[in-house]
Amino acid sequence: MMTLSEAARANDGYELWLPPANDPAANLDIATLGTGATLDIAAGELHRDLATAPLPILLATNLRPELAALKLPGAALGREGYVVRRATVAGRAVILVSGNTETGVLYGAFALIRAARTGADLTTIALQSAPKVAVRVLDHWDNLDGSVERGYAGASLWNWWELPDYKDPRYTDYARADASLGINGVVLNNVNAKPDSLTPRYIAKAAALADVFRPWGIKVYLSARFSAPIELGGLKTADPLDPAVAAWWKAKADEIYRAIPDFGGFLVKANSEGQPGPRDYHRSHAEGANMLAAALKPHGGIVMWRAFVYAESDPDDRAKQAYTEFHPLDGKFADNVLVQVKNGAIDFQPREPFHPLFGAMPRTPIMLELQITKEYLGFATHLAYLGPLFSEVLEADTYARGKGSTVAKVIDGTLDHHALSGMAGVANIGRDRDWSGSTFNQANWYAFGRLAWDPDLSPEAIAREWAQQTFGPDPRLADIAVKMMMQSREAVVDYTGPLGLAHLMGTGHHYGPGPWIKDLARPEWNPVYYHRADASGIGFDRTRTGSNAIAQYSPEVARRLADPRTTPESELLWFHHLPWDWKMNSGETLWHALVAHYDQGVASVAAMQAEWDEARPLVDPERWQKTATFLAIQHREAQWWRDASLAYWMSLNHLPLPAGSAAPA
Ligand code: GCU
Repeated sequence: MMTLSEAARANDGYELWLPPANDPAANLDIATLGTGATLDIAAGELHRDLATAPLPILLATNLRPELAALKLPGAALGREGYVVRRATVAGRAVILVSGNTETGVLYGAFALIRAARTGADLTTIALQSAPKVAVRVLDHWDNLDGSVERGYAGASLWNWWELPDYKDPRYTDYARADASLGINGVVLNNVNAKPDSLTPRYIAKAAALADVFRPWGIKVYLSARFSAPIELGGLKTADPLDPAVAAWWKAKADEIYRAIPDFGGFLVKANSEGQPGPRDYHRSHAEGANMLAAALKPHGGIVMWRAFVYAESDPDDRAKQAYTEFHPLDGKFADNVLVQVKNGAIDFQPREPFHPLFGAMPRTPIMLELQITKEYLGFATHLAYLGPLFSEVLEADTYARGKGSTVAKVIDGTLDHHALSGMAGVANIGRDRDWSGSTFNQANWYAFGRLAWDPDLSPEAIAREWAQQTFGPDPRLADIAVKMMMQSREAVVDYTGPLGLAHLMGTGHHYGPGPWIKDLARPEWNPVYYHRADASGIGFDRTRTGSNAIAQYSPEVARRLADPRTTPESELLWFHHLPWDWKMNSGETLWHALVAHYDQGVASVAAMQAEWDEARPLVDPERWQKTATFLAIQHREAQWWRDASLAYWMSLNHLPLPAGSAAPA
């Protein structure tokens, strides 16, 4: 009979990619030089997770005189980097885990665990790494009533009712998972913020969480509602240039820092989807951000100011709004402000071209916002590994400073020499036993953290290391999981919106197809606004003959996008309106290609089902069954997306289905 790996049996989903070793070697020799809360945690993690080690393990910061002779890298590691290697210390051969700070040592300990779990030979271990991005933060869209906006994994982890007195041990388990990836910040509350989060009661609750997270290297941030001086302070205005308003925020920041000395700062959604902001007073986003930045500055805090502005004023193309509003403000932001830009210009669609603001504001640190929770990719039920989506934007070339000016280089600060840099992921975490609603959704949390540490990592390598740690080292299982994961996101693109189509989903809930919807109050709420299909063709013309959104890109990129022949086919209908019989590069018509993509999407899900069937003997029954059931749901719903979408397109173009299509005629 096939035996399951120890790791697979022990893990019911709660332990994520960090199942404790079932039989940790009792005599594992793990020592620290010096003491400290974080150092102790690092040692504890190794005791918990390592079953064996070929040598004693020694944890110490580089500052220890005992290590002076080793000439360990110093500056290259920065505040959070680590080195893990064999060394002889006081005459003893050890595996040394070191860094400039205890946090660096903790990250080194997790790197050692990761290496051991993915089959590295620890006798020759030699790791050195420092994060490329400074602020690596999860944005929780968690409301104070315990609900989570766009959350599909149960209620909020934060039990505001019990806090600050009761600190659920689960907060520590959450911190462990974050720290294992190098995530060093948590925004606790929804960007659609209630003013209450800034009241003394809630500051005390946030402080309790900060106390739990601190030794794990994690800072707490809060989403701030711009109008809080009115709602909480009784002022008549929230005008950022009003001295009383600035004074209110300064006092509020001082109050927060008394409770949370290492508070990270504020995340702000202003003048977007009804949120208050500086534009209400005819002030710019920079004036609003800088006023908050001034309040945080003496304490070392930052402002993450979102560029996701989505107001009714949009004249012809919603995709142009953020650039139109923010590009002129380049150079006007205070030096502790990051402008936080979503990966694409609309809203976390299964595929979007990279946002034109990347590379367009060289004098401003721009941070990337990704959505880990799959609002538009089938919530928790559909399997869609987002590593390829995240990497696609990171690898995109903005040409801002010539070839090679990738989004990764913009957001890690190297392109324009910014020390401040950041990456945010909208969390997919809730109180579900398995945290993320499904086993494979855990991989998206994992991939976000790993890419925030190093945006150049390959999504496939990340998938493999996640699978090995999550399911155990059996390469057969890892092979199957990686194969499924690497095709999964493209499958969702294919059955929901191929060839650059987007925003075709049902209203409000964003689950399931609705390309026919056309009667919502605002034009850009309607899917018909995005696909513009009629009897003669389909697609959004964003060239000069249309909205000219392509002019927001650098000239090299814009030139390529101006012509459908040089536009990537995956983005074709995002930028061009084309006749149904447009000849694709393959020679087939646009219509036939479109149908083929929808069919391919459904077929890919069927392929994932067959692959997962092969994994059955290798995985614990609980996780196997849940994934199998979810794949069956996904297959049914992929067909629903395809059939409903094709039926609608056919009602416009009156074309027959091409021979061989699997869709019902
Ligand atoms: C999307 C999402 C909203 C969210 C918004 C944002 O539009 O549907 O729930 O508030 O993004 O990013 O602010």
